[in-house]
Amino acid sequence: MNIDELRPVLLDRIAHASEPRDVLKAVEFKQLYATIPTLDPTERGAYGKAVNELKVELEAAVALRAAEMDDAIIEPIDVTAPWDINSKSPELLPTDQGTRHPLTRELETIIDIFTRMGFEAIESRQIDDDHHMFGTLNFPENHPARDGYDTFRTEEGFIPPAHTSTMQNRILKDGKAKLEAGGQIAAISYGRVFRNEDVDATHEHTFYQCEGVFVSKDASLGQMLGTLRSFFEVYYGQKLKIKTQPGYFPFVEPGLEFAIEKPAALGGNPGEWLEMLGCGMIHPNVLKAADIDPTVYRGFAWGGGVERLVMLKYDIEDLRHFESGKLQFLRKFA
Ligand code: PHE
Repeated sequence: MNIDELRPVLLDRIAHASEPRDVLKAVEFKQLYATIPTLDPTERGAYGKAVNELKVELEAAVALRAAEMDDAIIEPIDVTAPWDINSKSPELLPTDQGTRHPLTRELETIIDIFTRMGFEAIESRQIDDDHHMFGTLNFPENHPARDGYDTFRTEEGFIPPAHTSTMQNRILKDGKAKLEAGGQIAAISYGRVFRNEDVDATHEHTFYQCEGVFVSKDASLGQMLGTLRSFFEVYYGQKLKIKTQPGYFPFVEPGLEFAIEKPAALGGNPGEWLEMLGCGMIHPNVLKAADIDPTVYRGFAWGGGVERLVMLKYDIEDLRHFESGKLQFLRKFA
């Protein structure tokens, strides 16, 4: 076959072969090269050039077909799938190299301490409404105290809660029957909270809080401070100095800020106080919002950030490490 006869045959093969590149090695094509030395020297130049042009044309056809075949085998995959559901037989990813996140581990320690003190532990919600986040917590409508919480809102008006206090009304309502049966309400709620603020070494838009709610006929500030002191002393494994100063939160009266003296063992100097949380006696309006009679029952509540506790315990200098996914940081806690 001459060049012009062979061209359509080879192009057709390239269009249909499962390995189009192999067509470049076809015997008939090699034969064209083998013919060159047998030709009259005056014909060789033009013939050689024509063979070369065919080669360039075939290579272009091969490249085009190969690209089409590549496109054809890219199947859509679910890149968010937790395990490899994109392969034919699902396989679990190996877990032997993973470890629990330090916050998960510390939160379990915190929950364990409060559970041993008789508190029930309830996970906080990650989406809520104005009624629970503000309304039932004695924030008057349009009150500037609401602004202090830098709340995100969805277009529908829902709120990713800015504090775990968003659970207080539910805890109180659920516990009312226990009070009436002569018992008490003792619960903590823990979980993620969200604030629309600029991120730096001590601020995150997403962080964890732990909240406590206690109600009985004779709950007192003394009991609250005893409870908090016990918790902090167990968590840090040593005796601590504590102090309070007045603080304003619409849902407690009186409201306090609770601080511990930074222990020497954790690099502290005498007189170096660290504010750990907000607390106080539950405001009568908050009890009323849960249909609990404030003339019969009293309660105290506290709430604060979890990262702060963990940072002090392990001397972590930057809050952003927690959500960074940096293995170098995470492996220190393995
Ligand atoms: N919810 C308050 C905050 O996030 C803390 C708090 C909780 C204060 C319970 C008093 C009682 O700032």
